[in-house]
Amino acid sequence: MQTIEVETRQRHYQVTIGRGALDEIGKIAAQATSGRTAMIVSDDIVGPIYIPRINKILREAGFKVFSYTHVSGEAHKNINMLQRLYNIFGQLELTRTDLIVALGGGVIGDVAGFAAATYLRGVPYIQVPTSLLAQVDASVGGKTAIDMPFGKNMVGAFYQPWAVVCDPDVLSTLPAPRIAEGMAEVIKYGCIRDASILKNAANQKFEAEAMIARCVQIKADIVAADELDKGERMLLNFGHTLGHAIEKATNYSMYTHGAAVACGMVAALRIGIALGITPAATESILKNLLTLWQLPTAAAVSKDEVLHTVRQDKKWLTGKLNFVLLEDFGRAVLYPLQLDEMTELVEATWLEAGVNG
Ligand SMILES: NC(=O)c1ccc[n+]([C@@H]2O[C@H](COP(=O)([O-])OP(=O)(O)OC[C@H]3O[C@@H](n4cnc5c(N)ncnc54)[C@H](O)[C@@H]3O)[C@@H](O)[C@H]2O)c1
Ligand SMILES: [Zn+2]
Repeated sequence: MQTIEVETRQRHYQVTIGRGALDEIGKIAAQATSGRTAMIVSDDIVGPIYIPRINKILREAGFKVFSYTHVSGEAHKNINMLQRLYNIFGQLELTRTDLIVALGGGVIGDVAGFAAATYLRGVPYIQVPTSLLAQVDASVGGKTAIDMPFGKNMVGAFYQPWAVVCDPDVLSTLPAPRIAEGMAEVIKYGCIRDASILKNAANQKFEAEAMIARCVQIKADIVAADELDKGERMLLNFGHTLGHAIEKATNYSMYTHGAAVACGMVAALRIGIALGITPAATESILKNLLTLWQLPTAAAVSKDEVLHTVRQDKKWLTGKLNFVLLEDFGRAVLYPLQLDEMTELVEATWLEAGVNG
């Protein structure tokens, strides 16, 4: 078992990582809050598997425990689920000293986190991430949000959790495509900060605890330096600008987020290579690694389709977009681009699956 400290202006908290960490939840929750009522929020896939165990541990730690499961999936990360949570919290008369436990993937973490941020102007919550993506990324750093009809994560708050509990053993029930999706983010951390992660991923040395801990440490360092996403934290968007464009251009139905980010990382490398910033040899190394994890390296989206979507990015309203490039594996930089430069670079480098990629 190991702990990683996250030091933000809003709160100082610990991420506990280790096999069997779920069994520590009672102790962690009791330390995190003075209240003795805990409300577990989960989805209908994760809940039935893990709620009974967590319920028991929390009860043994002296909590009165309630739980609620919502239908799983990104399609439900919306205001209806949020409203449902507010109503349940209200009916149960939860107070500002009670505790919300977000048990699930990034969707549950984001919505339960936002509900915690806003119900009674903020109640304590802990993150218990159960997907690899949520363990290495979404559960740490305090970004909470819901999707709106006009865009993903459009309403939310920065609201740091009181604690995060990551148990790699829960990944045993996570379907393989979801592991691959999380691996896309793991590979992203390797690309931007620590090339040794890429080596381990390439050897398929899937020592989950150490790998999750390394990724969480990177995220914790970046969030501590830039809690509100004004500079360094943008490096975490490596592969995401074009990845999001791929997701949007295909109506969020053809590629998982991880798969789209995988293609976006290759595209960002190729742009860096065209600009003479990224070494050319990185491209085949990254592609081989993504392929090893059953992730795509190019999407079935044409240059025109991706550019059409990229142009709609609200970040252009400020004139420039901070695009993340690699100087090498492990070293990322923000590179401000104007729309016409971006257009030219995509024109020159875009790979389309089945056409030239
Ligand atoms: N807040 C942040 O900083 C941040 C960062 C990255 C992503 N996100 C958000 O996270 C979301 C994606 O997260 P996700 O990929 O975890 O999606 P998710 O929450 O939808 O989980 C994926 C699927 O896996 C299932 N699942 C989760 N853990 C399981 C387990 N242990 N066993 C069996 N099934 C399990 C879920 O029920 C779901 O069906 C997106 O909405 C994204 O915007 C947020
Ligand atoms: Zn991502």
